[in-house]
Amino acid sequence: MNKSVSMFLVGLVVGALLSTVGFAYFLKTRGAGTLGQTVLKLGHSQDTGHPVHLAMEHMKKRLEELSGGRVTIDIYPSSVLGNETQCIEQLQNGSLAMTKTSAAAIENFIPIMSVYSMPYLFRDADHYWQVLDGAIGKKLLASGESKFLRGLCYYDAGSRNFYTKEKPIKMPDDLKGMKIRVMNSQTAVEMIKAMGGSPTPISFGELYSALSQGIVDGAENNPPSFTSSKHSEVCKHFSLDGHTRVPDILMMSTKVWDKLDPQIQNWVSQAASDSSTFQRKLWQEKTQESLEEARQADVTIYEVDTAAFAAKVAPMFDAIEDEATREVAKQIQEVR
Ligand code: GCU
Repeated sequence: MNKSVSMFLVGLVVGALLSTVGFAYFLKTRGAGTLGQTVLKLGHSQDTGHPVHLAMEHMKKRLEELSGGRVTIDIYPSSVLGNETQCIEQLQNGSLAMTKTSAAAIENFIPIMSVYSMPYLFRDADHYWQVLDGAIGKKLLASGESKFLRGLCYYDAGSRNFYTKEKPIKMPDDLKGMKIRVMNSQTAVEMIKAMGGSPTPISFGELYSALSQGIVDGAENNPPSFTSSKHSEVCKHFSLDGHTRVPDILMMSTKVWDKLDPQIQNWVSQAASDSSTFQRKLWQEKTQESLEEARQADVTIYEVDTAAFAAKVAPMFDAIEDEATREVAKQIQEVR
């Protein structure tokens, strides 16, 4: 056997071993006893003080209660398992059981999800929840099965707003020449361009240093993410322009889900749904608290003319290339 053939065989054996060990971990049983304990691994990008993380702690507790301790979740916050795109990829190959990401990050895997990143798609929070809880929301949540991504529930991610270091964004023209960090989403890139700024995709975990070092002039997010990530230490201007309402989505790998017995699947679904109800209430409180916290940290909060921003991005709706996405956008706008 020549050297390259034997190296290839060694590689095959090591690869097979690693994937077995890797997969076993996500359905690993912990502890003694005949039944053992099923442990699901969950990775996400937020800090432990963020309402999304607190909702996941709630889900873990509910799952342990429902299963009498037989099933639990190990939660890895702050991007320790990778950024949102990397966590989704790990779900697809079955090496991670669950993740929570913005729908924006999912559009690279499930194109129809891009509809949620369309600016000024939702009139207000009521319209947003009416859609997410209704037929359209359910259909989109289930749209990733063929990509190994099972949507479990939505979490509130409020509305996204610009925040900047040097000067405030009061009108779309203020964005001219400004580098604005966006999520890894083509729709977000198009939105910033349409408003006149320069979009720069950067992962959430790298944004604090990108802002500090001046790689970007500003970013955009909801108030709880702005303060819990400490971006409020660097950016002292926050404009309430509410350009998007991109929901957060809790997803599970179908490769892991399909291996769970139906009883455990029911417990997981129930615990996820309970955590979503819990998170929605918490979100309202935390949004107000975060705005107050930002003010205390010398951040100026600006009320702006949202119609001026909406006018800049209105042509984006006619420019949606994918027919199915264009149709869903229309259906969402028609929900009353
Ligand atoms: C929100 C969202 C996160 C996302 C973040 C971002 O906070 O909930 O999932 O990572 O925005 O801007 O990247």
